[in-house]
Amino acid sequence: MIKKISVLGSTGSIGKQTLEIVREHPDKFEIVGLAVMKSIDDLEAQINEFKPKIVAVFDEERAKTLINRISGNTQVRWGIKGLIEVATYYETEVVLNSVVGSVGLIPTLEAIKNKKTIALANKETLVAAGDLVMKECKNNDVNMIPVDSEHSAILQCLQGEKSANLDKIILTASGGPFRNWCYDDIKQVTFKDALKHPNWSMGKKISVDSSTLMNKGLEVIEAKWLFDVDVEKIEVVIHPQSIIHSMIELKDGSIIAQLGVPNMKLPIQYALSYPDRIQGEVTKLDFKKFHTLTFEEPDLKRFPCLSLAYEAIRIGGTMPCVLNAANEMLVDYFLKDKVNFYDIPYYIEKAMEKHRPFSYQSVEELLEVEAWVRAWIINELR
Ligand SMILES: NC(=O)c1ccc[n+]([C@@H]2O[C@H](COP(=O)([O-])OP(=O)(O)OC[C@H]3O[C@@H](n4cnc5c(N)ncnc54)[C@H](OP(=O)(O)O)[C@@H]3O)[C@@H](O)[C@H]2O)c1
Repeated sequence: MIKKISVLGSTGSIGKQTLEIVREHPDKFEIVGLAVMKSIDDLEAQINEFKPKIVAVFDEERAKTLINRISGNTQVRWGIKGLIEVATYYETEVVLNSVVGSVGLIPTLEAIKNKKTIALANKETLVAAGDLVMKECKNNDVNMIPVDSEHSAILQCLQGEKSANLDKIILTASGGPFRNWCYDDIKQVTFKDALKHPNWSMGKKISVDSSTLMNKGLEVIEAKWLFDVDVEKIEVVIHPQSIIHSMIELKDGSIIAQLGVPNMKLPIQYALSYPDRIQGEVTKLDFKKFHTLTFEEPDLKRFPCLSLAYEAIRIGGTMPCVLNAANEMLVDYFLKDKVNFYDIPYYIEKAMEKHRPFSYQSVEELLEVEAWVRAWIINELR
């Protein structure tokens, strides 16, 4: 049976690798929908190759330009409504969500309500609204399958294990490009330094998040919701070689790990083929080439974003949404050279201090919280 897939964020790092997998397995997967923010040249090439039934370009003007450039039967939509239409298109069976940021939340929720399986790369959705999203999954009997390599590793380690046996989740982190830098040197870094990740080639926002260790903080929150575990049972360990993608510790003390070369195609493919496995094109791990695997404790003084993420999820309610929205905005400012590296945790912490967290019931409440965060940061940085 061919699985019909819609990819949100098809022109990004994860999106392109997803299309590579579909290209390698035409007997297993078919693209029915694609969505992007503004990259219509790349999208046009993808339309010509994969012939999706529906595409969306967030930017309305570019969507209209695209309409004039393509022939064939592909329908073109725009705005958030367009993303929702792609995510809920009647033929779609699996929505692979790889957009950046909490803009992925509403299309994910709508896809869940329409009983689509979710392959989730867009971790910000779970950070901002994990409670709501997982409740919708439960109510609609929908599977949420992680694409993030760490969470894919945990899912693989948990196969066949009773959740009652799980004592701890151990998320591995490469430590990012500044792992060995002192505080004073990190203070001076620019976004160009932050984009030089040692092991992974990724989009700009996640590269900066990896350099601040906020990415690991977001992943702690993501793991809490995906695997329904108390945050105190989620530990982060720095593992610079990125060979062990994460581990679980069971109540008898046994530790199970998932290993592989650092290549996102493996977890993406597992999310698409889950619960089956299919032949992969990735380079296999050769233990003769890896003589040492090392582990360190994260340094929370140099990388305070990780503790802010723990604090936000411990407080709960709307606080993780504040953390995420503030981080999205500050990373954007950092990428535009408007703030320095340590302004990111500084203003996130201030926003969290200002916010009065509450237990939310709806997306609308979260959107209001996000709007407040954005307005507050704009005002602070004026
Ligand atoms: N890259 C990785 O290795 C990796 C690993 C694990 C998890 N993730 C997560 O996966 C997500 C994507 O990361 P990435 O590195 O692939 O990012 P990326 O390379 O920056 O790509 C982002 C994609 O999302 C699209 N997009 C952004 N805003 C959109 C909007 N409002 N509407 C529709 N499309 C929109 C972009 O379109 P345009 O091209 O038009 O801008 C692009 O296709 C993030 O949440 C990240 O944390 C990534």
